[in-house]
Amino acid sequence: MKVSTGNPDAMAPGVRALLYGAFCWLNRHIIVLRGFGAVLRYWPFVGAWFGLAARASAVKAVLTRTRSFSNTTHAPDLAAGDYLIAMDPGPTYAADRALVEARLAVLNVQADADQKAQKLVAKLTQPGVKAFDLIEDYLMWIVFHAIQPVFGAAADDVAVGKGGNVRDRGLQRQYLLEIRYVAGQLLGGNSSTLRVQRRAEACADSLRARIEGLNSDIQKAWGVSDPPEDIQRNAMGLAWISHPVTVQSGALVVQELLKRRKVYDDLRSMADARKSAVWTDPAFRKNVRDHVLELMRFRPIFPLMARDVPRDTEFETGGRHNAVCPGGGKVGLFSIAALFDPLAVHDSGKFCPHRDWKGEEGLRWLMFGYGPRQCPAKNHAVEILTSALIGLLTMRELRLARDDGKPITYDGPLMSRMRLAPQEK
Ligand code: HEM
Repeated sequence: MKVSTGNPDAMAPGVRALLYGAFCWLNRHIIVLRGFGAVLRYWPFVGAWFGLAARASAVKAVLTRTRSFSNTTHAPDLAAGDYLIAMDPGPTYAADRALVEARLAVLNVQADADQKAQKLVAKLTQPGVKAFDLIEDYLMWIVFHAIQPVFGAAADDVAVGKGGNVRDRGLQRQYLLEIRYVAGQLLGGNSSTLRVQRRAEACADSLRARIEGLNSDIQKAWGVSDPPEDIQRNAMGLAWISHPVTVQSGALVVQELLKRRKVYDDLRSMADARKSAVWTDPAFRKNVRDHVLELMRFRPIFPLMARDVPRDTEFETGGRHNAVCPGGGKVGLFSIAALFDPLAVHDSGKFCPHRDWKGEEGLRWLMFGYGPRQCPAKNHAVEILTSALIGLLTMRELRLARDDGKPITYDGPLMSRMRLAPQEK
């Protein structure tokens, strides 16, 4: 989800690699983006020259004008084909959105994520475990366990392929990597190198073949009578849009928390004081949930968003002049700047999980978009990350592990590994 950079297809490979490198670097060094964002907030006319909205009022206004600022901007980055995130409002969009909401309604993410987190914590706290990978050994499986039931009775077959062994972790992992690379294309956008694009396309082909063979099973499991192409589109979309982004957000949340030692230590002592009630105390859960949201504010997975402009229009920048948006172009939304806009968020630079958002509760969730196109799974995602974080808080103190090279490894804009070491008492 990135602002257009002209026409990268026409770029020399070296320039494209440089552009992709810069984009990935900025994603990892979000403080630099926050700095740019602050400048654009202060002088909104500068953003207006480039079609960038930075003030909270401007970002919110653009995201609510869905006819003037269109989601079709995502379409070229959907390696697996069309899905509702890139559609304009209309009957297909409405039907797909209703379907995803109906599927999300059958989930019991809190119970499922709690159960998986407890199991994994028990495994990772056994004597002899000196370090583990937050992504591959923990988050990936908690999110999988909580979200995969969207496929109902067809869930196992989607994950391991028809006739595959449901206990085969290797097969499950293959599926999770497949959807990760498809989703990565949405994040990297058209600046991705050709190698990255080809990998996303190969994974999308494999996802398509996997779902094609299961069309009627999924239709039965969902209890719908939609034609096969609708089942195919929605099943593929649901597979890649749900899991990778949630895992990645979880990794960002933990990375941010570990940098804030005092916040982390306080949460750990609260968890410790609750003993086994740590999983059942609603006040503690709410506290952790508030922390998850505030940590996400500091590390949103989509710090920038974009929209197509189908016809000439303008948006209010919050400054003296409107930004002119010529039809056929794009606008960029500096959501990271909006999340820290002091005009809308009290003490915006401070880490305040329990801030009174006054009339701006909607802005608190901007990491999930805003307005009619906001993420339909935002509550589910935050519940899953809350369970995952509670599990980590019950473990011995964690620090980045330096036992095996760099503790954090990136694959483009995505974190692919974060090794953590439980400290000796
Ligand atoms: C922490 C995890 C997640 C984050 C940060 C996140 C973020 C977002 C954002 C920012 C958007 C809006 C994009 C835009 O307006 O251009 C969005 C849309 C969407 N998300 Fe999520 N999401 C997460 C998890 C999930 C999950 C678990 C699902 C599972 C179904 C999901 C399904 C969708 C769908 C279907 C849309 C498109 C909605 C529409 O256009 O009407 N997301 N998400």
